[in-house]
Amino acid sequence: MKKLRLGVIGTCGRGALSDYAHNTNDGVEIVAGMDINSDMLNKFKTRYRDKFKAEVNGYTDYKEMLEKEQLDGVFITSPDFCHEEQAYYALSHGVPVYLEKPMAITIEGCDRLLETARTNKTKLMVGHNMRYMDFTNKMKDLIDSGAIGEVKAIWCRHFVSYGGDAYFRDWHADRSKSTSLLLQKGAHDIDIIHWLAGGFSRRVIGMGNLSVYDKLPRRTDAPENKPDISFDVSHWPPMKQTGFHPIIDVEDHNMIMMQLENGTQACYLQCHYTPDACRNYTIIGTEGRIENYGDYGKDSTIELWDKRNNSFCLNGNVTYRLIAEPGSHGGADLKIIQGFVDYLREEKSPTTTPQASRYAVATGCAGAESIRHLGMPVDVKPLPDEIKKHQY
Ligand SMILES: NC(=O)c1ccc[n+]([C@@H]2O[C@H](COP(=O)([O-])OP(=O)(O)OC[C@H]3O[C@@H](n4cnc5c(N)ncnc54)[C@H](O)[C@@H]3O)[C@@H](O)[C@H]2O)c1
Repeated sequence: MKKLRLGVIGTCGRGALSDYAHNTNDGVEIVAGMDINSDMLNKFKTRYRDKFKAEVNGYTDYKEMLEKEQLDGVFITSPDFCHEEQAYYALSHGVPVYLEKPMAITIEGCDRLLETARTNKTKLMVGHNMRYMDFTNKMKDLIDSGAIGEVKAIWCRHFVSYGGDAYFRDWHADRSKSTSLLLQKGAHDIDIIHWLAGGFSRRVIGMGNLSVYDKLPRRTDAPENKPDISFDVSHWPPMKQTGFHPIIDVEDHNMIMMQLENGTQACYLQCHYTPDACRNYTIIGTEGRIENYGDYGKDSTIELWDKRNNSFCLNGNVTYRLIAEPGSHGGADLKIIQGFVDYLREEKSPTTTPQASRYAVATGCAGAESIRHLGMPVDVKPLPDEIKKHQY
């Protein structure tokens, strides 16, 4: 079994994902981390000492870490606006990359990474952990088994109760740092829509606005400061909350409609001030419909309606109960990290592809452009054939 020495750029927050990889019995070690924030770097070192009795090296310059450590791979779990620059450097120095979603905050940024990984023959995997969730896999299996015939329509409603806590108190709220929450959050669902439909978007129209968070009291400190953020159910109702980011110019309600190359039509509706948190997908085929009630955890189901009925039926003809798996994101984080280790060892290809990640960003960018131009239809720029066909 090939031993792997791995590093992390952006050590806390989502950087905790690297803990799932560290397994000395399996020959996988996190040996170094880089962060611009020295408090975070210290937390990271302490975390590894306390949790794994491991001494990790700390850096405040990612280039220095990549040059000195001779890594077999690096997790890039820094904020979205850092992804392109940091992944470009790693890929052009031959270091395989696990890059958090969204791949980058522009289409050009994604295309630069695709081209760099291809020409340097370096592995690139993007953190679309929803592809490792039980409910998306069950829906994919049902579709592939022919349970609903040929997929023609997909509707996804996304309720984000913690939107105020997660996306309007720091860099996420500033479009120069995130472009739109259609990338930051929506890239997951757009990718799942493409995966379930078996094709990528070619045209998008959208409407959306900033209807709540721009009206609430802001922080007065420097925008780049990182406040202590807790996802707390007592932060309710939204209009009574304070402490938001000085710059807020991303929409808190996004609605986009997509036409895919293969003729499937889809829509994605995302709201950041709902009381509950859930993704709800309906997939309609030529012989039936499936819908998830709950996206992970106990009591979640997939309902399948494959017989005609002329009235409301809460449950389908068949109900599939989902497994409540332990670990973050319904067990998906552990599985995607194992997927990266397998990919590095060439044991198994990931179900995600960098091309699909790029189309998720490109579709989100097209949606944001349409929303910001009064619903103007925007075509999604296709990838050149040599990139489309490349095996990363
Ligand atoms: N796949 C998922 O389910 C999921 C969930 C949450 C976040 N994310 C993604 O993970 C990434 C990080 O999100 P987060 O909420 O943890 O962000 P964050 O703002 O908490 O930052 C994460 C870490 O990066 C560090 N950092 C900040 N700027 C840096 C820089 N220039 N270079 C190196 N490190 C830097 C921070 O100090 C922190 O330790 C984002 O791209 C986000 O979209 C993915």
